Amino acid sequence: MTKIKFIIFFFLLSAFIITPTHAAATITSNQIVRYNETIVSPLETFELGFFNPANSNNHYVGIWYKKISTKTVVWVANRNTPLTHTSGELTLTLHGVLLLRDATYDTIVWSSANSSSNSSNSSARNPIGKLLDTGNFIIYEKGDSMNEEEPIWQSFDFPTDTLLPGMKHGKNLVTGNDRHLTSWKSADDPAFGDFSDWIDTKGYPQLIIREGGEIMFRGGPWNALWFSGTPNLKPNRFFNFTFVLNHREIYFQYNQIDTSILMRIILQTNGHLEGLFWSTSKQEWILYTSPQLDRCDRYAVCGPFGICDINNPLFCLCLNGFEPASPDRWRNTDWSQGCRYTVPLDCNPSEGFKKFSNLKLPDTQWSWYNQTMTLVECEKMCKRNCSCSAYTNSNMSGTGSGCLLWFGDLIDIRTVGEDGDTLYIRLSASELDSMENSRSSIARRRVRVIVPIALVVLVILVSTCLFYHFYKQKPQQEGTPENEFQHDFENTSTGDEDLELPLFGLSTILKATNNFSMNNKLGEGGYGPVYKGVLENEQVIAVKRLAKTSTQGFHEFKNEVILISKLQHRNLVKLLGCCIEGDEKMLVYEYMSNKGLDSFIFDKTQSELLDWSARYSIINGIARGLLYLHQDSRLRIIHRDLKVSNILLDMDMNPKISDFGMARIFRGNQIEANTDRVVGTYGYMAPEYAGDGLFSIKSDVYSFGVLVLEIVCGEKNRDFLHKEEYNNLTGHAWELHNEGISLQLVDKCLVESINIPQVHRSIHIGLLCVQRHPEDRPTMTSIIMMLGSECPLLTPKEPGFYIGNTKQDTTESSSSHKTNSNNEVTITMLNGR
Ligand SMILES: *[C@@H]1O[C@H](CO)[C@@H](O)[C@H](O)[C@H]1NC(C)=O
Ligand SMILES: *[C@@H]1O[C@H](CO)[C@@H](O)[C@H](O)[C@H]1NC(C)=O
Ligand SMILES: *[C@@H]1O[C@H](CO)[C@@H](O)[C@H](O)[C@H]1NC(C)=O
Ligand SMILES: *[C@@H]1O[C@H](CO)[C@@H](O)[C@H](O)[C@H]1NC(C)=O
Ligand SMILES: *[C@@H]1O[C@H](CO)[C@@H](O)[C@H](O)[C@H]1NC(C)=O
Ligand SMILES: *[C@@H]1O[C@H](CO)[C@@H](O)[C@H](O)[C@H]1NC(C)=O
Ligand SMILES: *[C@@H]1O[C@H](CO)[C@@H](O)[C@H](O)[C@H]1NC(C)=O
Ligand SMILES: *[C@@H]1O[C@H](CO)[C@@H](O)[C@H](O)[C@H]1NC(C)=O
Repeated sequence: MTKIKFIIFFFLLSAFIITPTHAAATITSNQIVRYNETIVSPLETFELGFFNPANSNNHYVGIWYKKISTKTVVWVANRNTPLTHTSGELTLTLHGVLLLRDATYDTIVWSSANSSSNSSNSSARNPIGKLLDTGNFIIYEKGDSMNEEEPIWQSFDFPTDTLLPGMKHGKNLVTGNDRHLTSWKSADDPAFGDFSDWIDTKGYPQLIIREGGEIMFRGGPWNALWFSGTPNLKPNRFFNFTFVLNHREIYFQYNQIDTSILMRIILQTNGHLEGLFWSTSKQEWILYTSPQLDRCDRYAVCGPFGICDINNPLFCLCLNGFEPASPDRWRNTDWSQGCRYTVPLDCNPSEGFKKFSNLKLPDTQWSWYNQTMTLVECEKMCKRNCSCSAYTNSNMSGTGSGCLLWFGDLIDIRTVGEDGDTLYIRLSASELDSMENSRSSIARRRVRVIVPIALVVLVILVSTCLFYHFYKQKPQQEGTPENEFQHDFENTSTGDEDLELPLFGLSTILKATNNFSMNNKLGEGGYGPVYKGVLENEQVIAVKRLAKTSTQGFHEFKNEVILISKLQHRNLVKLLGCCIEGDEKMLVYEYMSNKGLDSFIFDKTQSELLDWSARYSIINGIARGLLYLHQDSRLRIIHRDLKVSNILLDMDMNPKISDFGMARIFRGNQIEANTDRVVGTYGYMAPEYAGDGLFSIKSDVYSFGVLVLEIVCGEKNRDFLHKEEYNNLTGHAWELHNEGISLQLVDKCLVESINIPQVHRSIHIGLLCVQRHPEDRPTMTSIIMMLGSECPLLTPKEPGFYIGNTKQDTTESSSSHKTNSNNEVTITMLNGR
C-alpha cells in the first residue's frame, strides 16, 4: 500500500496544468494533438495526452483516468523514448499509423507501427483514432461500426504495466503478439522495469512474473476458474474472468460487472501484481488483492518434488513418497536440491499414482494437454510414457475434464488450502503399497477395535482411576511414575497389544462432548479444536480433535500416543488416552479448570489474581516440567511450541504444560499435501528455529525465556511495542537490564507483592535464555539451580529475536547489520553499551 501511495503521491505532485483546447474522443488523419491538448473518451472516463511524471524532465504520451483526483496513468506510448521538452506532436497518418513527432528536431520518437508485430500499415484509406471508455485507444477504418471490434491497431494490444477490465492478457497465436505487462522502472520513470507478467504458453498456459529472464513468481496454470495458485484472485460480484484457449489465441481477461467502480491490475515496480479499486470516499486506490502472499510464493523455493507449506515454520517439505535429495543441505534449510523418490522409479508397469489435494499445481512448462480426454484416459496416457511424472484434469475446477501431463521434475508446488487443486503423482509400487497398507490397516482396525472398545474403555478407566489413586498417595517423584503407570497397564493387560493403549471410542467421546457442541468448545490450538467433555463416570476431560494432518498410520500414531501418555509429571497436563476412528484422531486429556495462563497474565482484571509469589511459583513449575521433558523422562521431548497459552493452571494455580509431544506425533519431513499445521508460534521461536528450522532443547529454553519475561511484564513479546527504539520485549528487557533498571519491566499490578531480588533474578534468567546463540543459553538443569539459589549469574549477551514472518541471519556474530532481499529481513541487533 505504501508503494501505491508513493506512486500516487508523485502523480499528485506532477500536477499537470493542462487546459485542453481539444477534447474530442477521436482523431482523424493528419490532425495533430499538441502538448496542451488531449483526447477524451465519450463518457469522459479516460483521457489521452502528454504528461510529465514528477521528479522527471521527460514527457510522455499516455492514457489516464480523467475523473479521479490522482493522476493514474494506465498506458504509455513512448515509455522508452521520452520527449525532453514540450514540442511533441501526435498525429495519425493516412495509413492509420499513430506517430509521435519531436517538432523541435523533426524526428519520430514513437510510432504505433513500431510496436505492432504484424505491420499494421494496412490499406486503410480513412483511418480514425478513438479513445474508448474502456481505456482502449483504437485505430479503425471509418465505415461500418464493425471496424471498432477489429481495429487496425489498439493500445490494449500493447499494455504497459496495467491490465484494465476487458484487456486480453496472453498470446495471439495468429499474429504472434504476446500481450504482457512490464513494470515501470520507478514511480517517475515509465521505461521498462525489471519485472514482466506473462501468460506463459510454453506448456499448458500459466501465469508467471519474471524478473529479468528468470521466473520469480508463478500463479499456476488456469484451472477453469482461476490460476491454480491464486485462489484469492477469484471471480466475485465485482468481476468475472474469461479464459480462452484455442488454436488462434490464448488469453486471460477480467470483466467488470459493476462498471461504476474503477479497477485495475498493476504490475508494481517491485514486481508485485496488485488488484486495486478506486475508493471515492477515501479518494485513493485501495489494494484489493495480490496473488503474491508469502515466501512460499517465491518460485521453486523448495526445489523439485518439494512442497512449500506456509503454516510450517520450516516452509519446505517433501511430498509423500519423496525424501530430501541432500539431507544435510535440507537440514540447513538449503532446499535448492529439492527431494527425490524414496523408491526410485524404473518404469515398471506396476507403478501407479497417488492423489495429492489442495495444491498449487507444478510448473507446466514441461507439460502436455488435451482438452477433451477424460481422467481415465489421462491416467492411461501418463502410465504409458515413462517420463510422465504426474497427471490431472486440465479443467480441474470446472467440469473435471481434459488431460494435463507433466514430464520430469515437479517444480514449485505449494499448499493453498481448501481451494487448491488435485494432482496424481507417479510412484513405485512398493511406495504405494506401504501407503495403502497404513491406510487399510486403519480400516481393518476400525472393525477390530469397535468390538472390544467398550471392554477396553472399561479396563482403561478402571486402571486409570486405580493409577490416580495410587499416584496421588505417592510422594511426587519425577521419573518414576511413568514406570508405575506402565506397570499398571501391563498388569491389567490381557495380552492384546491394543490394551496397552488408553483407547476411547468415538461414541464415548461424542457422548461426553455432546457431539462436539459449540458450547463445549474450549478453544482452538495449533493442532485443532479442544472440547470439554464429561465421561459417564463424571470424570471431566478435554478432547483435542486433531486436524486431519498426521501422515502417520494407525500403528505409528498409537505408539506415539502410548509413549506420550507415559510422561507423567505434576507440571505436565496428563494425557488420558486417545481415540482413533476413520479419519478422526483425538487426544483425551485431564481437564484443567483454570484455562490457560494467558487468560490471566494478559487480562487487565484477571492479572491481579496472580501476585508475584504465584507467578514465581508458576515460573518454577514450568521450569520443572520442561526439565522433565528434556532430561528426566525417557523420551527427551522437545516441546517446540512452548508459549503462555500452552501453560494451563489447575485449581491450585499449579502450572501444567500442554501440547507436548505433538511434534513427535506429527513428526517427519513428509506431509500429506493437504496439511495445515502450525508448529511454533512467532514471538516464542528461537532465531535458529524460526529461520533455519534447527530445533533443540535450547530452542525450548529460548521460548521459556520469552515466557518468563512475559510473566514478569504482563505483555506479549509479539505485540510488544515500545515507543522508542525497540520493537520487541526481549530487546527492551535487555536494554533496561543493562541500564540496571529492569524493574521498570514489571507488570504494574504486581507493585505491592513484588520481591525485588526474585524479579531481578527472573528477568536475568529470562535474558540468559533468549540469548542469540543456542550454546550460550543455559540448560533447564542450570535454570532450576539458578532459580533456587542466590549465586551470581553470567551477564546475558544480546538477545536473538524474531519479528513477524521474516528470517533472521544466524551466521553473523553480534555486530549490527542490515540487509534486505525479497522476503528476508535481517534484524538489526542491539549493541551493548
Ligand atoms: C499550454 O497552455 C498554457 C496555458 O494555456 C500555456 O501557458 C503554455 O505555454 C502552453 N504550453 C504549450 C507547450 O503550448
Ligand atoms: C522502431 O523499432 C526499431 C527496432 O525495433 C528501433 O530501432 C527504432 O528506433 C524504433 N523506432 C521508433 C520510432 O521507435
Ligand atoms: C506504409 O506503406 C506505405 C506505402 O504502402 C509506405 O509509404 C509507408 O512508409 C509505410 N509506413 C510504415 C510505417 O510502414
Ligand atoms: C498479419 O495479419 C494478417 C491479418 O490481419 C494476417 O493475414 C497475416 O498473416 C499477419 N502476418 C503475420 C506475419 O503474422
Ligand atoms: C462476465 O461479466 C460480463 C459483464 O457483466 C458479462 O457480460 C459476461 O457474460 C460475464 N461472463 C461470464 C463468464 O460470466
Ligand atoms: C485429444 O483426445 C481426443 C480423444 O482421445 C482425440 O480425439 C483428439 O484428437 C486429441 N486431441 C489432440 C489435440 O491431441
Ligand atoms: C513421452 O513424452 C515425452 C514428452 O512429451 C516425449 O518426448 C516422448 O517421446 C514420450 N515417450 C513415449 C514412449 O511416448
Ligand atoms: C471447463 O469448465 C468450465 C466450467 O465448468 C466450462 O464452462 C468450460 O466449458 C470447460 N472447458 C472445457 C474446455 O471443457
